[in-house]
Amino acid sequence: MIKNLTFPRFEYSILPKTKLWESTERRKELKSIAIFNQKGGVGKTTSTVNISACLEKEHKAKVLIVDCDSQCNATDYMLTYVEPKPELTIEDYLSGKAGLDELMVRISTTFRGHLKDTDIYLLPGTNNMDMLDIPDLEFFKTVTKKAEEDKFDYVFFDCPANLTAPTIAALTASDYVLTPARASDFNSLKGYGLIIDTVQRIQSTSNLGLKILGIFFNEASDTRGLDKYLTHDGNSMGDITFKQRIRSAAAVSDAIFFGRPLVYYKPTAPVTQDFIALTKEMIKKIKKGA
Ligand SMILES: Nc1ncnc2c1ncn2[C@@H]1O[C@H](COP(=O)(O)OP(=O)(O)OP(=O)(O)O)[C@@H](O)[C@H]1O
Ligand SMILES: [Mg+2]
Repeated sequence: MIKNLTFPRFEYSILPKTKLWESTERRKELKSIAIFNQKGGVGKTTSTVNISACLEKEHKAKVLIVDCDSQCNATDYMLTYVEPKPELTIEDYLSGKAGLDELMVRISTTFRGHLKDTDIYLLPGTNNMDMLDIPDLEFFKTVTKKAEEDKFDYVFFDCPANLTAPTIAALTASDYVLTPARASDFNSLKGYGLIIDTVQRIQSTSNLGLKILGIFFNEASDTRGLDKYLTHDGNSMGDITFKQRIRSAAAVSDAIFFGRPLVYYKPTAPVTQDFIALTKEMIKKIKKGA
């Protein structure tokens, strides 16, 4: 584990010890989950969208996705079938131009040839996310409160691959951290020590209730030796790893290209079944108290 992670000074400034967010005590139903790995391209956005859609379609959950990344990949993925295209972003809320209700976009998709309104909602991201004023990052707590009022079951924060202020604010407003790692990339696993260290820092400063939900392996194949080693039952990380892996499949990038979550795009594809099974495992873990 990397012990001496130093946070840039400004990051500490949004972790006031006096404002502990005792989320697990105050909110019984809503679960807020930060999808986080400091490594890029491991499947954070893909998983955010597809786990959300599994919860919505398979478990009738009402889900809010908050795009915390200035790349806005989750926003691009989700808005394909939404017309007219929303112009408001998180930035407009922060500058006082719009309320959260105006900002929240209900996601549509096509299913069996028909346009369908889902129970997935999005707070669209802004390219300026990394530049937003620090005090504004209390925003994510406001979001979880609003989601609770609006009877959402889950909020997902799609975090960027860095530890800038939006990521820390998202972790501060979350009940859980869920981490995808590339099964074939040992570095993405090594980075898990860094993640645990980050979570411990958040726990000891701004969010006592933050829990690690676990790590799951993405882009897995049955043939690559390292995959097998990393993901076999009984590997050294034990319970923290999910049993279910997400295989590597062309359907994933096709679904992104067509702007549709896998459960709507290819409901019977093996990779879709992986996401459905992973989502079930996640629900079980949460029920067991993770
Ligand atoms: N299971 C998979 N099979 C095939 N391709 C995948 C799979 N998961 C993700 N990808 C591809 O990997 C790329 C990166 O995925 P994604 O954008 O979800 O990663 P990320 O962690 O959010 O990246 P960033 O750190 O830039 O935010 C995407 O092009 C996606 O299509
Ligand atoms: Mg991403």
